[in-house]
Amino acid sequence: MLIKRICNKLSYLYSKHILRHIYNVRYRNYGFRCEGVLMNCQLNIQGAGHKIHIGKGCVLRNTRIEIAGENHTFVIGENTKFYDSGRIRMGDSHGVISIGRNLAVSDIFLTTADVNNKITIGDDCLISAKVIVRGSDGHSIIDDSTGRRINPAKDVTIGDRVWIGYGVTILKGSVIGDDSVIGTNALVSGNIPAHSVAVGFPAKVIKENISWKEERIKS
Ligand SMILES: CC(C)(COP(=O)(O)OP(=O)(O)OC[C@H]1O[C@@H](n2cnc3c(N)ncnc32)[C@H](O)[C@@H]1OP(=O)(O)O)[C@@H](O)C(=O)NCCC(=O)NCCS
Repeated sequence: MLIKRICNKLSYLYSKHILRHIYNVRYRNYGFRCEGVLMNCQLNIQGAGHKIHIGKGCVLRNTRIEIAGENHTFVIGENTKFYDSGRIRMGDSHGVISIGRNLAVSDIFLTTADVNNKITIGDDCLISAKVIVRGSDGHSIIDDSTGRRINPAKDVTIGDRVWIGYGVTILKGSVIGDDSVIGTNALVSGNIPAHSVAVGFPAKVIKENISWKEERIKS
């Protein structure tokens, strides 16, 4: 009787995602390894063949992870913190969202769709609130004369030590070089070189040969 009650309790905790987040669990259809802490997170994982790994020391608060389709990879390196909230959405198949070590982020929406669509964020980045990163437009634009789609998905790469300000949107195909800063409310669509400050809609480089630090230095 006691054993039955313990089993019921364990199965209740498991269904509430509590134990799943504490222990590394290999799910029936995909690999899930969480070495960090998920607080008030929602996981909606459909399909099969996914690899999900949340590294040691990570803390994700109020984050929704929505994965549909086949064979996606979602990995987060050590000590990354989603402080306020986040939403990860992956569709179709063989997508990759790879987040490096020590990312500090307030509120982000990261989405891949189409086949082989990839978003990479490097190590030691700082990302403010209301930031959107899209590897795909999510819907098709068709050339009426050919019947072909003209807006393919394109990978997004954000380098190491990149600081992204409040309200920034980063569209498919964007590449942001190491140590760069993106000003608040910018729209990035294309290449931003390393060690530069870019602002505006669309974002243009206004300063070059810069680095940034999290602490406020007396100037
Ligand atoms: C990007 C940023 C850091 C640059 O600061 P800075 O190097 O001191 O830039 P300046 O204030 O010298 O501005 C340089 C020019 O860019 C313009 N500019 C600066 N930020 C801009 C922005 N976000 N959008 C549009 N233009 C901007 C300025 O108006 C100025 O234009 P001017 O030369 O025609 O006068 C800052 O403007 C910014 O966006 N800060 C907000 C960061 C944030 O979101 N923090 C949240 C905590 S993580």
